[in-house]
Amino acid sequence: MERHEDATITAYPNGPLIVRGDVTILDADGRPLPRHRRTQALCRCGASTIKPLCDGSHKLVGFCTEEPTD
Ligand code: FES
Repeated sequence: MERHEDATITAYPNGPLIVRGDVTILDADGRPLPRHRRTQALCRCGASTIKPLCDGSHKLVGFCTEEPTD
């Protein structure tokens, strides 16, 4: 019998949600996204041009997950 590890989602500071494990991500129409790696990064800054995946744009827009300090 094949064993599957639990999938995990990790929120990275000032960055994407990293999805690890056996997970199928669907687009808005319910079609599975092509999967090239076991680890996938989901955009949470809203700036990615390949949503729902992260394309690194969070760095360009200065996405920050921490409260600004005065
Ligand atoms: S979190 Fe990386 S592009 Fe949005």
